[in-house]
Amino acid sequence: MPGAHPRHIGIIMDGNGRWAKMRGLPRIEGHRRGEESIMEAVRVCAERGVKALSLFAFSTENWERPEEEVRFLVNMSRDVLRKRMEEFMRLGVRLRHIGRRDRLPPEILAWFDMAYEVTRANQGLNLNINFNYGGRAELLDACRKLASEVRAGNLSPEEIDEAAISSRLYAPDLPDIDILIRTAGEKRISNFMLWKLAHSRIVVTTVLWPDFGRRELEGIIDAYRREDAGMGSDYGGD
Ligand code: IPE
Ligand code: IPE
Ligand code: MG
Repeated sequence: MPGAHPRHIGIIMDGNGRWAKMRGLPRIEGHRRGEESIMEAVRVCAERGVKALSLFAFSTENWERPEEEVRFLVNMSRDVLRKRMEEFMRLGVRLRHIGRRDRLPPEILAWFDMAYEVTRANQGLNLNINFNYGGRAELLDACRKLASEVRAGNLSPEEIDEAAISSRLYAPDLPDIDILIRTAGEKRISNFMLWKLAHSRIVVTTVLWPDFGRRELEGIIDAYRREDAGMGSDYGGD
């Protein structure tokens, strides 16, 4: 297979609620089933030598959802870390939480921090869990950092360029997103990683997140590599 591998893939994991509704199940059942799709995506990216995978798991807007669903999603992040840490280690995954820390319970933050510490020496896939994440919040936080550095006299406004903003984002060491994937058919960015999406290819598939598996992701990566090699750009989807 010719062409370069994507370095950074971002996924807006959508459609869990619809998946459950189609089966007459509660929404949280859809989230629960989405865990296997998360693990398959991590395995595929680790095997294929992708440098980074950012998974949109909970947006700053998702706090508006029913309390019970919010609680389920927050606890699920901890449960996935607890249950899958051994496999993350085996795969050489480096895990980190991307997003605001406010509003997240201390116990959840402790799990994110622990996962970061335990996996930080690994050499494989950088796995970002975007949780309580908003693209605008990230840019705002970068602006605040810049403003305080200017006020402290450590930076002049003229020195603020793209690199200066880039280096104050939540994951400054990671490259731009090469492919943005959104499942469940909506053609929306939903406040995902605005800065790193500037030059991304966009793949929207109607497959719902719990049904998104190895075959779908490998197909998208292979299409990217064909396109990179100048052999056309059929990503499937719509
Ligand atoms: C994505 O599935 C998961 C999160 C946003 C947390 P949804 O829960 O948004 O599923 P739909 O869009 O209602 O089908
Ligand atoms: C985007 O999905 C956020 C996540 C996948 C976490 P949503 O279902 O929350 O977004 P909208 O409502 O379609 O914009
Ligand atoms: Mg949705």
